[in-house]
Amino acid sequence: MNIETVRGYFKDSRTVAHYVKAVANIGLWESEKRIFENWLDRDDRILDLGCGAGRIAFGLRDIGFGQVEGADFSEEMVVEAREIAEHFGASIPFCREDATCLSYGEEAFGAVVFGFNGLMQIPGRTARRAALSEVFRILKPGGCFVFTTLDRDDRLYRVVFKDGANYDHDVERNPNLIEEGDRHFSTEHGTTFMHVPRRADVAEDLEAAGWLLLDDKMRSEIARERTEVSEFSEDCRFWIARKPTR
Ligand SMILES: C[S@@+](CC[C@H](N)C(=O)[O-])C[C@H]1O[C@@H](n2cnc3c(N)ncnc32)[C@H](O)[C@@H]1O
Repeated sequence: MNIETVRGYFKDSRTVAHYVKAVANIGLWESEKRIFENWLDRDDRILDLGCGAGRIAFGLRDIGFGQVEGADFSEEMVVEAREIAEHFGASIPFCREDATCLSYGEEAFGAVVFGFNGLMQIPGRTARRAALSEVFRILKPGGCFVFTTLDRDDRLYRVVFKDGANYDHDVERNPNLIEEGDRHFSTEHGTTFMHVPRRADVAEDLEAAGWLLLDDKMRSEIARERTEVSEFSEDCRFWIARKPTR
């Protein structure tokens, strides 16, 4: 499993169609809305990284965030997001960007969001740490980074990973996996990858990249989600980190 295999999944027309539908049918999760309203500033330039077709970017705009942009490493997602923006007359720039190597300048954004576990779809801890450093670089001092992950310490994943014989997460037998916590999973659109981290590992990676961890909570502790949101996405952990001021 490498970054190109993951990108292949997110370039597939069935995956793209799934995320296009999510813009209209899912919108912002209640938990996302509460986190964004609590931690992000409506006047800041905000990047929705791993934006897909723009579900979060359009949602932010709808609740009054005026300077939103989106970026994704799938050109196909970016094309759809641009078409939706044009359709709604929304001036949201969408660009093709790889989170591990961003083209934005230093301190370009007031806040960055990497929603719906996108950071954990980057294979390899070194590459995920590179993304954490890149987001740090493009954020202004004092700016917030909001992202989500699944959680290997949570009840559901403790049970899933307890089954050591499962080929989908058995690092010893499955050549597509790199590290413990990696999970290979199939959806109706194909096969993809997700790293399911332990809470302590994410906290350690944030600290190593210079972040201050402000808060982290399971989605279920933040809000009760609509049925369609729960069907679209399982419970996950929200992370809010700040780039220290000088
Ligand atoms: C689970 S989808 C979420 C899409 C969208 N944020 C949403 O919630 O509907 C994860 C997104 O992250 C993007 N992604 C994964 N790895 C990435 C990387 N290294 N750089 C940029 N985007 C990436 C994928 O192309 C995909 O669109």
